[in-house]
Formats: sequence, C-alpha cells, structure tokens
Amino acid sequence: MILLFLQLISSTDSKIQYPCQPPQHNSYPFCNASLSTNSRAQFLVSLLTLDEKIQQLSDNASAVPRLGIPPYEWWSESLHGIAVNGPGVSFDGVIKCATGFPQVILTAASFNRSLWSAVAAAIAVEAKAMFNYGQAGLTYWAPNINIFRDPRWGRGQETPGEDPMVTSAFAVEYVRAFQGQYYAAAERRDQFRLGQPRKALTEEEDVDKLMLSACCKHFIAYDLENWGQFTRYNFNAVVTDQDMADTYQPPFKSCIQQGASCLMCSYNGVNGIPACADSGLLQKVRKEWNFKGYITSDCDAVATIYEYQNYAKTPEDAVAMALKAGLNYEYLTGTDINCGTYMSRNMKSVIREGKVLEKDIDRALLNLFSVQLRLGLFDGELVKNRFRGFGPRDVCSSDHKKLALEAATQGIVLLKNDLKILPLDKPVISSLAVVGPLANSTELGGGYTGIPCNPKSILGGLQEHVTNVYYATGCVDVACYSTDKFSEALSVAKQAEHVVVVAGLDLSQEKEDHDRYSLLLPGYQMKLVNAVASVSKRPLILVLTGGGPLDVSFAVGDPHVGSILWIGYPGETGGKALSEIIFGHYSPGGKLPMTWYPESFTRVPMTDMNMRADPSRNYPGRTHRFYNGDTVYPFGYGLSYTSFTYKLLSAPSKLSLEGFLQARPQKNILYQTSNGLDYVHVDELTYCESLRFEVQISVTNKGDIDASEVVLLFAKGLELFEGSPERQLIGFDRLGLLAHTSAEASFMVDPCEHLGFADKHGNRILPLGDHIIISQDLEHVVSIGL
Ligand SMILES: *[C@@H]1O[C@H](CO)[C@@H](O)[C@H](O)[C@H]1NC(C)=O
Ligand SMILES: *[C@@H]1O[C@H](CO)[C@@H](O)[C@H](O)[C@H]1NC(C)=O
Ligand SMILES: *[C@@H]1O[C@H](CO)[C@@H](O)[C@H](O)[C@H]1NC(C)=O
Ligand SMILES: *[C@@H]1O[C@H](CO)[C@@H](O)[C@H](O)[C@H]1NC(C)=O
Repeated sequence: MILLFLQLISSTDSKIQYPCQPPQHNSYPFCNASLSTNSRAQFLVSLLTLDEKIQQLSDNASAVPRLGIPPYEWWSESLHGIAVNGPGVSFDGVIKCATGFPQVILTAASFNRSLWSAVAAAIAVEAKAMFNYGQAGLTYWAPNINIFRDPRWGRGQETPGEDPMVTSAFAVEYVRAFQGQYYAAAERRDQFRLGQPRKALTEEEDVDKLMLSACCKHFIAYDLENWGQFTRYNFNAVVTDQDMADTYQPPFKSCIQQGASCLMCSYNGVNGIPACADSGLLQKVRKEWNFKGYITSDCDAVATIYEYQNYAKTPEDAVAMALKAGLNYEYLTGTDINCGTYMSRNMKSVIREGKVLEKDIDRALLNLFSVQLRLGLFDGELVKNRFRGFGPRDVCSSDHKKLALEAATQGIVLLKNDLKILPLDKPVISSLAVVGPLANSTELGGGYTGIPCNPKSILGGLQEHVTNVYYATGCVDVACYSTDKFSEALSVAKQAEHVVVVAGLDLSQEKEDHDRYSLLLPGYQMKLVNAVASVSKRPLILVLTGGGPLDVSFAVGDPHVGSILWIGYPGETGGKALSEIIFGHYSPGGKLPMTWYPESFTRVPMTDMNMRADPSRNYPGRTHRFYNGDTVYPFGYGLSYTSFTYKLLSAPSKLSLEGFLQARPQKNILYQTSNGLDYVHVDELTYCESLRFEVQISVTNKGDIDASEVVLLFAKGLELFEGSPERQLIGFDRLGLLAHTSAEASFMVDPCEHLGFADKHGNRILPLGDHIIISQDLEHVVSIGL
C-alpha cells in the first residue's frame, strides 16, 4: 500500500518540470537563492531574446528550453475552493476533487474574520497540494472585491457584499492567509530539514516569500455584466471622485497594502479610460499604495481597449496603452500580463511601429519574474516542500470538510421566525415534505466552483434527520416557466407534518456575463410558495438560495410562511449545514452583507454608478450607507433562536482636536460649509491615530441555548453635511455566547478613518460636532470639537 503510494508520487512528479534543474540548468545566477529577488529577476530578463520576452506576456507563458524554463500557466482560480475556471487547474490526476466551500457572499455573512482566514488558509493548502502534483499553478485570481453595488449584479455572489469596510477586511484576511503567512513561521523552523542548510532569513526576505499568490480583482468600478445594451466589455463607469475615494477604492487599497502580489484590471472604462490603460489609476497603485506585485488584465481586456471601448485606434495602440498605461513614457507602469494571447500576438508589430520599446517589456517581465521567484518557482524542486510538502491527503481532509460546514452554518441567515416554527424538534417530527427545483441539487456552489468531494443536497441533509421525507420538484427548473409540477408538490405538502420549500436563484439566473432584471423569485416560484403554503398543515419553512437579494415581501408578511432562511450558495456541506440549523443543533447567527431592495428599485438604471442619493432626480442612492428608500431586509439583518441585550460599557462623549491640527501659520485649518457647519481635512491633522478611542459593548444571551451574535457598530453624523453617508459601518465582531452568559465586544474607532467621508474632490473630511455611535438599540453621542 505504502509502496504503491510512493510510486504514484514519483510517477506524477516526473511530469512536473521546474526551472533551475541540475545538472545543466542550475548554474545561472537567477537560480542562485542567495541573491536578492530583484537581481535574480534582472539576470533572468537579461538572458532572454526579444522573441522569448514577448512570449511571456500571456497567461500561458511559453517555455524557454535553452534556459531550462518550462511553460507556466498564470491563471488558476480559488475563490471559494479550487475552481475549474482557470486553465492552470486540472482535476484529471491523482487529485480528483477539492473541498467546495460556500460561495463568498455566504461566508461573508458570518462576519467572522477568523473563519474567513481559516477558509483561505485551507484553500491554500489544497492549492499547494495540487501544484505539487502538477494539477494547479501557484498564482490564483481571487478574491473578487468589487463592491456589490447593484442587487442585479450576477457576480455579487462572489464578493463579500456591499460594504467597503467589510470587503476590505475580507480581502485582507483572504490575501494574508492564502499567500501563506501561517506557514512562513513553520518553514523557518523546518528549513534545515529541506536539503542544504541556508542562512537564517532576514525579516525582509521572510516578508518577500510567498506560498501562493492572491489577486485583488477587478480594478475598478466593475460590477455590471450585461444589462440592456451595456456589457462589461463596452461599459464606461462614470464615477465621481467622492464615490471613488470612499466606496470603490478602499477594498483595493487594503488588499494591496496588506501584501497582495497581484492586481487584475477590469474590462470596463472608468470616466472614459479603459481600466487597464488608465495611467492615473495604475500609477496610484504603484506609487501611493506601494504595490510590488504584477498586474494582469482580465481575460482579453487588452483587446477590449480597441474592440469594445474604442479607446485605441488600432490593436497595436491598445497593446501599447495597456503595457505602458496610457502611452506615457514617464510613468513606467502598466498592465504586465494579458490574460489571453492578444498582447503577445500583436507585440511584434507594436515594436515595429515604435510604440513600445524593449525596456517597456523588461519592466513588465521584472514584475512577473519577481513574483515567480518569491513563490520559489526558481528554487528547483525545493518549491514542492517549501511551506510543507502538501499532497493528496491534505485535500478534502476531514478538517477542511468540517471548516466548510462551519462556514455554511455560520453564514446562514434567519430572516423570519415570528411563530418560532424553527428549530424543529427532531424526535417529535414524524414527516417532512421538501419541495423545490433545487432541493435535490448537489450543485450549490455558485460561480467559480470546482469538483467537490462529497456534495450533499438539501434533501440528503434533511433525510439524515427524519425518516419520512417526501420530495417534489414543484418546478422543472429554477426558471420555473410552468405550473405543471405543482399538483405533485401540493400532494406531498398535504401529507407532511412540516414543509420546507427551497426557492430562489441558481446560476441560470445570475452569474458571470448575466445580470438579473428583476428581484422577484424567477417564473412561477412565488406562485409555488403560495400554493404550497395554502395547503400545508403548518406555516412552511422557506429556504432561499442565491447570491443576489430577493424581493420576497409576499412571504415576509404572510402568516402561512412561518420561517425564512437565506443560504446563499452553501457549497458541498450546505445540505448538512441547513439541517443542523433547522433541527436546532446550531443557532443561526449570520447577518446580511447586502441590502435587500424591493422590486421597485429596478427602475434605477444599473449603469448609474452614483452611491449618493439625489432627490432632485428621484435617485434613491445605493447600499445601506446611502440608500434612503424602503427595504425588504436591511444590511446587517439576521435573527437568532435566542435573544440578546446590548449594554454600552464605555465610550467617550467628547473629543478635542486641539493639538492635533498641523501648524500651518498661513492657513486656517478649520473649514465651513455654506450652511455654517465646521469640518477639518483629515490629511491636515497630525497624529490622527492618537485620537482613536475605544467603544466597549457587553452583549448578553438571554435565552436557554448557546449562540453567536454578530455585533455591528455604525456611526452617523448628526448634522446634515452634503454627501455624508446615512450611516456607516465602523466595526464588527462575532461573539460566541453560551446560554445566559455575556461577552464583550471592543472596537477601536479612528475618527479620521471612521467618522469622516470623502468630499467632492475625494479628500477625506471630518465634520465637527455630534456623531452618533449606534449598535442595535444603543445610541451614544460623541461630540468632536476644537
Ligand atoms: C550565489 O551568489 C552568492 C552571492 O553572490 C555567491 O557567493 C555564490 O558563489 C553564488 N553561488 C553560485 C552557485 O554561483
Ligand atoms: C499554451 O501554449 C502552448 C505553446 O507554448 C500551446 O501548445 C498550448 O496549447 C497553449 N495552451 C493553451 C491553453 O492555450
Ligand atoms: C436525488 O438525486 C439523486 C441523484 O443526484 C437521486 O439518486 C435520488 O433518487 C434523488 N432523490 C429523489 C427523492 O428523487
Ligand atoms: C469564528 O470562526 C472560527 C473558525 O471557524 C470559530 O472557531 C469560532 O467559533 C467562530 N466564532 C464565533 C463567535 O462563531
């Protein structure tokens, strides 16, 4: 058995080629691990011919056989588990499947940073194991951190939701864990066991090393697939400096400043310039945010600069504009690699036309090879064992399955339970009817899914708890264009003691390249829920799938619908997670990471990028920070099987800016709006950090069952400043609370960062006067004065 296993390893190993293989290819300076990353990259670039360089400018980078460099596929995907979408990943090998974690929007709903980090670390282990067996790359194009701006967006499901602070926090956890910070320390201990001893790593070298590369995508203002005549390829997002500064940019800034090694520029234009050719944006990333990684275009986004955006007059111009970000020689920054072959195919003629010089390509290649070097790809076979020698036994391990289950149970949101139908009392339930086109589906992963190891349907999950489970699809499929299957559904519903209806969305309704037009349940689904509700013995349990918000107002107010649960795309353990919640093994604690708007919101053009409401044109604004209309369920909504009380333990009532104003004799730093409200510019305050204060809240679980509570801390200004948010999220934490116990949540509030917002020019301002700190039913005023 053991022998056979070893044989398998060596037979797959022989297929993997690494650069710098002895004896003939390890003498190049770029193979010398004691040199700095930068000099190794420089050496390597200096050895390449122009043709060889050009062949590196695609995700499918060519081999350079004379230097012993094998081909490399840059594109692998890992959003919520190793996915099939990137050509770098193959499930056709020793490893046949990988853990299918819930889609990001559901994991985000847990509001649990340690969970987010643990999931990303687990995906990284599986990625590295697959790399070691020649089934995946080391560079992954996740996470998706665009703001879920519009409820119709088909890829909102892939994101952590609509709030920039939550999205930033998720990005940071994902990137740090995925790129391997956990294993860096372990490797330091292990290094002497891996072949020849090396000198101890310096602090800087340690930071430099990557287990894997994560990518912040899609930069920027990308959140429309296909709506009316607009597609993501031809859309020009018109974004104000104000919204750019305090909505669209913050997640990317955090993602990059916390060490991401890749940025993907998006298809769309931003204020007239295609994102991949925007020197202003890409400059900011390199210079202000100090980005050290590589920039890839979204797939064939370089071609769209010419073909859809009509920004370039020729393909050659498009290539030059991407590589150099706007044809400006001074900047030396741009898109380093094109997903697809457009750049490498056209580069020869671009050079012939003199629009790109070899040194421009060298600049891109330095970024690319630096990342590969940091990943250890040029350290020979050692790359396999770097950060532990993960293999098949680390994929779909029991720990990872348990974590996937935890992610789903922690994320699921209880939206309605007026009659306390849930949890069901297991020993007493004699029969259950399960209705819905997705009830027996094992494809509940959402976009960017791989091949899960042990997928279980909702029906399968519930069958483990109750002997008599009746099942009917109700609709042929999720689109539900016919009522033909209703009668069967009604007859099973009538027989059962309790009824679960699974309604909502799947990828036929929302996905990449596909936005919705309506927020209502698809086709006759609403009719199905109503019909089943009218015949069931007790108020039914409505389970909603999908990533996008649904207008289910009909069910919110209907006493025949007892409970509503939102399960997003719960992944391979979703069936089990849902049944654990329905039968009360786990009290739901997830909260919605996005606003659920009513159907009437769809009168707002999806193309309107403005976040702020504008009453003069009847524009309601977007997300909980600016939307001022009615909701079906608000951002942050979510119930529990128990109840909690909140108590404010400490928070200051007054803050003085005196002493924090920068000494500028010529300038008055106190500004006033036209209606006489005082404010300061945050960048004119010195020692802003020392203004930070702590807010402590005690939360008590009043009930008889153990539960978790997500504590959300919001702030809003009391005075009406133009452009100020309705409220903003300034902190969140998830507390574990045993029955009848209390715990404390403690938040550090940085007034400059949290209590301000961007002005019309994108500069952060802090209003003086009263700010209200809000958590659940607590309200506390902090007054800021000079
Ligand atoms: C690697 O670089 C170091 C530092 O420059 C040098 O001392 C050493 O001889 C090099 N090793 C090889 C094998 O060239
Ligand atoms: C990648 O490029 C090689 C040639 O360098 C080619 O044989 C292979 O088909 C390409 N793969 C894809 C997925 O395009
Ligand atoms: C559920 O689907 C599985 C296949 O995925 C099938 O074997 C099973 O019979 C289905 N269950 C019912 C009750 O139809
Ligand atoms: C947060 O997630 C971690 C990892 O799954 C888990 O151990 C912890 O209990 C969770 N916290 C709460 C309060 O649910």
